[in-house]
Amino acid sequence: MKKITTIEAENLSITRAKKVVVKNLSFAVKQGEVFGLLGGNGAGKSTTLLAFLGFLTSTEGAARINGVEADVDPAATRRAIAYLPESANLYPHLSARENINYFLSLAKVKSSADDIEMALNQVSLAEEARDQRLSSYSKGMRQKVAIAVAILRQAPILFLDEPTSGLDPVAIDEFNRLITKLAKSGTTVLMVTHDVYGACQVADRIGLLRRGELVGMFEATNDARISVDEVHQAFASGA
Ligand SMILES: Nc1ncnc2c1ncn2[C@@H]1O[C@H](COP(=O)(O)OP(=O)(O)O)[C@@H](O)[C@H]1O
Ligand SMILES: [Mg+2]
Repeated sequence: MKKITTIEAENLSITRAKKVVVKNLSFAVKQGEVFGLLGGNGAGKSTTLLAFLGFLTSTEGAARINGVEADVDPAATRRAIAYLPESANLYPHLSARENINYFLSLAKVKSSADDIEMALNQVSLAEEARDQRLSSYSKGMRQKVAIAVAILRQAPILFLDEPTSGLDPVAIDEFNRLITKLAKSGTTVLMVTHDVYGACQVADRIGLLRRGELVGMFEATNDARISVDEVHQAFASGA
């Protein structure tokens, strides 16, 4: 079966504060693929996600979700996307279950208590933590809650902005396994990061972004993940 393209940037350019911060960017992500957009601070990674979410308009080209331009129908593209911003937007004074209920009601999604427990099991959030306030959680635990919301919303697309920054190696491994599992079940993942190792561990393809331009593309094969050394060298050589 031919896989469907769900995320597509076509000659996308974005200007912020009179500066062109994304230049002529083209890439496409197929259903169930994990695509990593890798680059240093200020490369334009978060800006690219915001364009797909319709929060920023393109000055040239297009950012499309399921064939629909984000500029034209931002509500449709946002419905299709679960977005984990750099700093999670959950409520610290609410528990995991309360946060999930709140965000699902915002998204007008109905889920039973059983569904919620199943999602929390899927992300392996410790049972004893589920009724505790998020203010006592580690970043890794908060991310599990955010991903549980994404699972319950059944969003076909997951956007992750620097998801592994601030996580310890155990939490990073656990997180990457979870992302791989979601992608295998059909979720399309666009992850932006400056972490070469993390990107190589989880991504099927990596696009290297430098000052808003795509300067390299790397692909995993059936036999091997993307080479950390190769990507590191390409990344560091342009610093
Ligand atoms: N709110 C903003 N207003 C104007 N310029 C911005 C804003 N946010 C980011 N930029 C600029 O856009 C460029 C890309 O930023 P960003 O997409 O956040 O990079 P990254 O996520 O790769 O670190 C940078 O030059 C940054 O200074
Ligand atoms: Mg960013």
